[in-house]
Amino acid sequence: MRIPQQGRPKQEVFDDLKSFARDDLAWRSGRAFGYVYNAGKDIAEVGKRAYMDFLSENALDPTEFPSLLRFENEVVSMCITHLGGDSECVGNFTSGGTESILLAVKAARDDFMAKNPGVKPQILLCRTGHAAFYKAAHYYGMDTVITEADPETFQAIPSAFGAAITDRTCLIVGSASQYAHGVVDPIEELAALAASRGIRMHVDGCIGAFVLPFFRELGDDIPPFDFSVPGVTSLSMDLHKYGYCPKGASVVLHRNKDLRRAQIYTCASWSGYTLANPTVQSSRSGGPMAAAWATLQHVGHDGYLELCRGLLEGRRAIVEGVRQTPGLRVLGDPQMCLIAFTSDDPELNIFHLADLLIRRGWYVQPQLSMTNSPANVHLTLTPANLPHMPAFLQDLRACASEARAAESPQISPFIQQALASIDFDSLDDATFTQLLSAAGLGPGGDLPEDRAEINMILDSMVPALRERVLQFFFNELYQQP
Ligand SMILES: Cc1ncc(COP(=O)(O)O)c(C=O)c1O
Repeated sequence: MRIPQQGRPKQEVFDDLKSFARDDLAWRSGRAFGYVYNAGKDIAEVGKRAYMDFLSENALDPTEFPSLLRFENEVVSMCITHLGGDSECVGNFTSGGTESILLAVKAARDDFMAKNPGVKPQILLCRTGHAAFYKAAHYYGMDTVITEADPETFQAIPSAFGAAITDRTCLIVGSASQYAHGVVDPIEELAALAASRGIRMHVDGCIGAFVLPFFRELGDDIPPFDFSVPGVTSLSMDLHKYGYCPKGASVVLHRNKDLRRAQIYTCASWSGYTLANPTVQSSRSGGPMAAAWATLQHVGHDGYLELCRGLLEGRRAIVEGVRQTPGLRVLGDPQMCLIAFTSDDPELNIFHLADLLIRRGWYVQPQLSMTNSPANVHLTLTPANLPHMPAFLQDLRACASEARAAESPQISPFIQQALASIDFDSLDDATFTQLLSAAGLGPGGDLPEDRAEINMILDSMVPALRERVLQFFFNELYQQP
């Protein structure tokens, strides 16, 4: 493609945009359990308006845009208070959970390496910890040390952490909550362990930390997980998830300025402006931070509490509904409004069940098996789903019966043979393309509607192989016209 020689009329361009969205996930229907955190039009409108008003302002130099500095400092301050912090705590507004995590890890790593020259630092986390920590380790030349979760509760096991600490441990990670099963790790025990060894402890509250204090206020038993726990040195919390702010909104928080210092990158060695960045991004639109500030102001504590009341009711209904569906089992005891359920019935293929639900217009997320966590279906519950609960549970029961009655999907013999014979270490584009088309995937990575077989293929692979295959697939997907 080329940039069009002559500009096109505005309306024509807008019409194009609209038509391109035709096949996008229909999240406005309230039938999608993932990707979009939808609390209705009124809240979204406030975020949108504020976002557009500050779209062009640039937080690259906050001294030139004091409004942006104010948004950032006030949003961070509200988050610190929400998470039991005091006046020593500091933080920054970031573009999302991954950036918050990258920054917390950078602060810990740089500090560790200054004190331990020549030692390759390790991040210690549970199998259920988010992929962003692996990404951070990968980007920064660190190692990850992984402990397995309890096979019943899916919580991290403190004694396993204790046994895995080494002189290279630079950061211990706990999740509140973790994504896959929506359970909260025993943060007090992990933090006590970290403090006793003089190691930093990060709590990943990207998805859960905003909601959990409201759940506690509503009577749920949520153990301490935030700055109220001695030994927790940093936290990440996303506002673009359960804060219902437009995407590009998260915070990274530290217990004090000393702990944050190494997060800030400065460069005065080139010929342009002296660079001082507290975040990964340099130029930063004022849109997300203005929108986050405005959304928090508009919804307010009582508004969020009401939204959380609905989420708790929704979670209870789903957990109950899954338990009443023969063959299905909820994994762990979710404290967040994230629910994972598996099939204990060999006749009921969980990936086929996901396909059937998707065919009926629900978006649910299949999760592959991982060590002691069986293949399952994950639901991220948001307020927009709540009016659809009875219909969802009815369809869940119907689809479970249908999946059980149907012949279980199989990996085709051709694929099985190909998988057994391909040397994945020397996989090239041509072989990979052949494999894709044999698995029913079109050129450019078009996915078939029913994905049970693809999920079963991925599920049969060890993680390193899944990663390799997905790297090929994404290299294929971003194919320019
Ligand atoms: C627990 C947890 N941490 C980190 C992240 C990463 O957040 P983001 O997608 O905003 O980078 C997620 C995303 O779902 C999450 O659930």
